[in-house]
Amino acid sequence: MHISHLSLTNYRNYSRLAVELPPGPILLRGDNAQGKTSLLEAIFFLSTTRSVHARTDQQLINWLTLKQEPLPFARVEATVKTKLDSFRLAITLVRENDGFRKDIRLNGSKKRALDIVGKLTTVMFLPEDIELVTGAPAIRRRYLDTTLCQINPDYCQALTRYNKVLANRNALLKDLAERNGNADQLLYWDEQIAHDGATLVTQRHNAVLELDAVARQRHREVSGGKEGLRLYYAPSFDLYQRPKPDYQLPLLMEDLAPYSTVAPPVKEVRQTFLAYLQQSRREDIQRGVTLVGPHRDDLHFLVDGIDMTLYGSRGQQRTAALSTKLAEVALMQQSTGETPVLLLDDVMSELDAERRQHIINIVDQAGQALLTTTDWSDYDEAFRQRSKLFSVTMGQLEEVGQI
Ligand SMILES: Nc1ncnc2c1ncn2[C@@H]1O[C@H](COP(=O)(O)OP(=O)(O)OP(=O)(O)O)[C@@H](O)[C@H]1O
Ligand SMILES: [Mg+2]
Repeated sequence: MHISHLSLTNYRNYSRLAVELPPGPILLRGDNAQGKTSLLEAIFFLSTTRSVHARTDQQLINWLTLKQEPLPFARVEATVKTKLDSFRLAITLVRENDGFRKDIRLNGSKKRALDIVGKLTTVMFLPEDIELVTGAPAIRRRYLDTTLCQINPDYCQALTRYNKVLANRNALLKDLAERNGNADQLLYWDEQIAHDGATLVTQRHNAVLELDAVARQRHREVSGGKEGLRLYYAPSFDLYQRPKPDYQLPLLMEDLAPYSTVAPPVKEVRQTFLAYLQQSRREDIQRGVTLVGPHRDDLHFLVDGIDMTLYGSRGQQRTAALSTKLAEVALMQQSTGETPVLLLDDVMSELDAERRQHIINIVDQAGQALLTTTDWSDYDEAFRQRSKLFSVTMGQLEEVGQI
């Protein structure tokens, strides 16, 4: 798929932008602070209804508009072309009470966020992708959630419900700890949490298996055949109720072998989750939080059996993260039948020549890819020649001829 037209109004440092975009690679060059990241962020926002960078939606609205306009708003709008279809997507942030609300439209009709996520599929590459491997488990969970939401609307719905129910269960746990109330009140929330939690767990499990299959191949290519990468989903409770492997130790593959099978049916996972909830109930009440569930899951990157998060060199970690992102592109393509739009924010400067080439290969297969840089020479002449070139200056785009 590709975006044929993009318009931004009062979005970050873009007061007004309207641009036609071709399929294929699009190179955006600009000095620092000109709006390169903001443009990719806007497209990602339209795709997922979330910003990769902002903590609140208000941060996306142009400062001047916010200060000067009585009714400030920001809008991102795009026309998207797929193999068989063409549609218009728009998100407008409009003032409501103290904050902002998203008005979401598909071909002009009002939609819920859940209805449009997955329409325009994107994969974002950022220099900080390495944090997928080096960072906290929450980063890996968010990664799985963002990917799966784009692929499967049911997942997104289950996730939204799960988070609400989890907050309610935690509130009750605190209340029980303080007032010594009847713990049976938890039963209702346990059922709810297990119902949606099981959906999340099984889908994460199966998606990681698919990611693993492709990431393994990509990693072999990126590392010149030297390293074997495996991705393992580590749910907070074991789906087969076996003891958990100790990821703190360098691991041998055999320890993890049972994890590589397809997830059990969702019904069984629900029962298992319920059993674990029962087991940890006392401690849950003492601590006032739910200690098991997909909100405590993790994802492990093992190279030749060694956990990269704990023991990887910087280069190995970067390669593992890159291979995983490349696999995500393939997963999205397999699941939706369309190539996602690739958004690569200044990733080349951090990579060596060989890894750059792997990115270029993927870009060449994509229906459309937007790549930002501060320096044209990050891309060789042949690549520049088959790309559309724009220069970005203070929230404006200008098409440039070949350099
Ligand atoms: N809500 C906003 N309103 C107006 N300007 C904003 C808003 N949020 C951020 N900016 C500014 O927009 C400018 C462009 O930011 P952006 O991150 O897109 O730059 P960039 O071109 O990616 O730069 P770099 O090369 O340093 O990554 C920055 O000066 C930033 O401070
Ligand atoms: Mg930037």
